[in-house]
Amino acid sequence: MCHDRAVDTKEFDQVVDGLDYPMFVVTTVHAGERAGCMVGFTTQASIDPPRMLVCLSNKNHTHRVALQAELLAVHVLDPDDGPLAELFGGQTGDEVDKFAQVDWHEGPGGVPLIDECDRRFVGRIRDRFELGDHTGFLLDPVAAEVDSSGPALGFQQVDDLEPGHEA
Ligand SMILES: Cc1cc2nc3c(=O)[nH]c(=O)nc-3n(C[C@H](O)[C@H](O)[C@H](O)COP(=O)(O)O)c2cc1C
Repeated sequence: MCHDRAVDTKEFDQVVDGLDYPMFVVTTVHAGERAGCMVGFTTQASIDPPRMLVCLSNKNHTHRVALQAELLAVHVLDPDDGPLAELFGGQTGDEVDKFAQVDWHEGPGGVPLIDECDRRFVGRIRDRFELGDHTGFLLDPVAAEVDSSGPALGFQQVDDLEPGHEA
């Protein structure tokens, strides 16, 4: 194993290939402009205080709105949420109004909450970090709702979905 240079992308890809992690839809709003996309690069980042890190690609419409926003809503996708994954992961807000195609309502600060996702929290953006081609948004949860539990839709279930924006 080499220690003094970055590994080839191919070698790294082999390490992460096949990993599974939960998928979310992250929504936000700024000055009346709503945005949302499917996200797999997320993790709980602190237990006490509770914090979550959400990583948004700097190509995405959602990223542009989130840079100005105060809040992000993080919705856990269920294993049968394929249609939501296709809408929020396979379409871009640069071209379509995703919120015309789902039922939603305004949450704290006007952030759009998707009605059919009954497991979600709203987080205040505490900090932003340039990570590379993604920006990390560190969230302090300010509201949470949960009517279901169990496994989430996993990355491997949607790995073949073509993202609405190149990554
Ligand atoms: C399996 C899968 C995982 C994805 N993970 C992320 C992610 O972690 N972060 C991100 O910003 N986009 C991710 N995307 C891409 C966006 O969901 C996708 O490009 C979306 O269409 C962007 O929408 P927007 O331009 O309206 O924001 C993922 C897409 C797929 C299919």
